[in-house]
Amino acid sequence: MPGDFPTDERHTRRALALAGRGRGSVEPNPMVGAVVVDAAGAVVGEGWHERFGGPHAEVNAFAAAGEKARGGTLYVTLEPCCHHGKTPPCTDAVLRSGVRRVVAAMADPFPKVAGGGIGLLRAAGLDVTVGVGEADAWELNAPYLKLLATGTPWVIAKWAMTLDGKIATRTGDSKWISGEESRRRVHELRGRVDAIIVGRGTVIADDPLLTARPPGPRVAARVVLSASGELPERCQLRTTAREAPVIVYTTAGNEGKLAGWAADGAEVMAVRVADSRRESGREESLSARATHPTEILSDLGRRRFTNILVEGGAGVLGSFLDAGAIDEAHVYLAPRLVGGAAAPTPVGGVGVERIAEAFQFGRTEVEVVGGDVFVRCRRAVTS
Ligand SMILES: NC(=O)c1ccc[n+]([C@@H]2O[C@H](COP(=O)([O-])OP(=O)(O)OC[C@H]3O[C@@H](n4cnc5c(N)ncnc54)[C@H](OP(=O)(O)O)[C@@H]3O)[C@@H](O)[C@H]2O)c1
Repeated sequence: MPGDFPTDERHTRRALALAGRGRGSVEPNPMVGAVVVDAAGAVVGEGWHERFGGPHAEVNAFAAAGEKARGGTLYVTLEPCCHHGKTPPCTDAVLRSGVRRVVAAMADPFPKVAGGGIGLLRAAGLDVTVGVGEADAWELNAPYLKLLATGTPWVIAKWAMTLDGKIATRTGDSKWISGEESRRRVHELRGRVDAIIVGRGTVIADDPLLTARPPGPRVAARVVLSASGELPERCQLRTTAREAPVIVYTTAGNEGKLAGWAADGAEVMAVRVADSRRESGREESLSARATHPTEILSDLGRRRFTNILVEGGAGVLGSFLDAGAIDEAHVYLAPRLVGGAAAPTPVGGVGVERIAEAFQFGRTEVEVVGGDVFVRCRRAVTS
């Protein structure tokens, strides 16, 4: 029962769209979607992985299809699992369903699967095709795949700026640069990530709460970077540290200065200091004592955080860019001019010397959001 490519592509595209419905609810699991088509080519079941620990996409799609799956085809965006995790192996459900063909967009590099699911289904006599829509499947699960490959989360850098490239005025005022609709989108994103990072400068200038309002499917840890440990005694993050997690990354020796934050419920973590002069090969640096973003990301990865959002300011974004640690940028461009040579631009740090050395994103999407222009760029992912 061989398939034809346009039909396989069409059903795979639908399965990928279904998979996306799990965004923010399934991590650190991958987003997965499935479509069951009967022997006559009619769609008889659809499903997706809806929440972490819940049934997998295939199981939900087979539940919808019932006996109609027999003799048909399963389209799935990721290789069916063949191990007992939080749920039984999906390969069992595939064999029980009676489908004769499986089309998987990509193999799952998860070590306990890694081709085992495909092998098991082929050994049972099913016709298995792998790789239809593979590039889109990698793109969809880039954060899951990065965490698996590197042990570090996917980093989304976000800022709002004026048409003249300023993230605040020369006095540090930044409320609000972007419009209401853009800010609503940012809150939606906050509700889907595992952590939101800001620097000491932003805590002092803006006193942000960094929660998602209204709440989303997950509650992000709120993370503050301060190599000096000189954080304010009174601010919203500190007073709400028992309501939603707060983590402070600092350098060793600041525990005393941050004892009040710890007493109020924040987790204070000392991490390795970056030798930014040596690493950048230049004398200037954001701070000779800045902590290393890679160290912070490794710690967040150990917590199985899949997506993190870096909200600024310029110092933090600069240190992430200098470390090559940005995977995606969300930029809201507001049709305003504030001027001022001293008004900050979005990304500080050391930067590169030549345009040829500039960090180049892969995909770019542009959209008008309310009265702003929204630009979303992503690092190229390779399958
Ligand atoms: N428009 C927007 O989207 C937006 C968003 C955020 C902020 N802002 C604006 O940006 C301005 C603040 O920017 P900023 O550059 O002054 O402040 P920032 O980036 O928020 O904070 C800089 C400070 O963060 C700490 N830091 C940065 N990288 C670090 C690292 N790798 N390890 C440890 N600590 C690190 C350092 O603190 P220590 O000095 O303690 O070492 C550094 O001095 C404000 O005016 C704010 O309103 C605008």
